Formats: sequence, structure tokens, C-alpha cells
Amino acid sequence: MGLLAAVLLAALLPGIAARGAQALWPDEPSHTCSFQSLSGKDSEFCRGNLEVIYPELGDVGCTYIPSCHQSRWRISREWGSPRVRYPRANKSKKYVLMLVDPDAPSRANPRSRFWRHWLLTDVPGAELRMGELRGRVLTEYARPTPPPRSGYHRYQLRLYEQPEGGRIRLGPEERISAGSWSLESFVERFQLGSPVASTQFLTKHHED
Ligand SMILES: *[C@@H]1O[C@H](CO)[C@@H](O)[C@H](O)[C@H]1NC(C)=O
Repeated sequence: MGLLAAVLLAALLPGIAARGAQALWPDEPSHTCSFQSLSGKDSEFCRGNLEVIYPELGDVGCTYIPSCHQSRWRISREWGSPRVRYPRANKSKKYVLMLVDPDAPSRANPRSRFWRHWLLTDVPGAELRMGELRGRVLTEYARPTPPPRSGYHRYQLRLYEQPEGGRIRLGPEERISAGSWSLESFVERFQLGSPVASTQFLTKHHED
């Protein structure tokens, strides 16, 4: 028994050291939750060191949300909007930030691309440097909720410099639905140009 207890303790300790909340998931094997980085084309989307931080996971930019610790369930059902940090933001500028899913309802057949999950304008550079965004909310944060059996969805954060003057708004049709959003026409209408930074994370339905 003494030996078994020692082995169990040894198995538990790294997990506790890594996350400090092991007791919340008594049913799970106690190993450290490891992140897998995106690769290939998916990693090329991550540019400019934009950080997307869910407090219980840390910066998930350019990674798959891990299945351990019910992270996929919690990101879909429990957690609020992430902190978004862009250390290189210019304090005297304003920014537009969006979170979109290009894989609605699935990457194989994205007929409702883009799904708008979050849209902020007039975000001061100082807030981005701190990672505490307020700005002006055009679309409230909606959690990533990939449907069952639809594979991995990309959740893309795109940050644009906001041109001075002129108020950015959604049109009446855009306000009715978050799906099938023409991101390109929005970007063009307000002359946002190319993102100054972008990143993404991938996740799928928690039972898949
Ligand atoms: C920040 O923006 C201001 C106003 O557009 C500009 O004059 C300044 O050069 C920018 N600073 C940096 C470090 O890019």
C-alpha cells in the first residue's frame, strides 16, 4: 500500500504543479494537460504576437484547445470572453477586433462562413497593451460552440487599425444574424485594410 500511495502521489504532483486545480476533475487521469501547436497553413494565420488568454488555460493562440480538464466543454459553456493582448499596440491609435469562425457549420462545408463571435471597435491601444478590452461592443462575445461531429473549427481573431473619424456600425441585416457574415465587405466598407495581427485556436465539440 505504501508503495502504491507513493506512485499515485508521484503521478499526481506534476499535474498539480502545472495547473493547481487537479481536485476539480477527480475522474480524469492525472497527467499534465499538454497543448498541441497548430502546424502548416493553420499556423501561418498567427502573425504579430496577438495573445488570446483564457485565464484557466493561458494563451491559446495558435494551439488546439486540449481535451483534458474538460477544457473544450468549459470554453463552450462556461468561460467568458478571453483577454486579448497586443503588446505592440500604439497608445494613440484605436483598433477593431473580431472573432470569427470560418468553419460554420463545418470546415468541409462552410456554407455559413463567417460566423461572427465577437466584434469590438474603438479599442484604445492602451487597453490592448494591457489585455483588458472594453472598446465599443458591436457584437457581444458568443462562446465557441462547434456542433457535434463537425470536426475542428478555427476561431480566428483579427485585429485591425481603425481609421480616424467615421463611426463603424453593422448594417440592419448584419445585426439580424451572426452567421453568413460578409467579413470582406465589412472590412472594405470601413477601409480597415489588412489585419495588423491575427491568431487562431482550434477546438471541436467536447464529446467528439
Ligand atoms: C502611433 O500613432 C501616432 C498617430 O498615428 C503616430 O504619430 C506615431 O508615430 C505612432 N507610433 C508608433 C511607435 O508607431
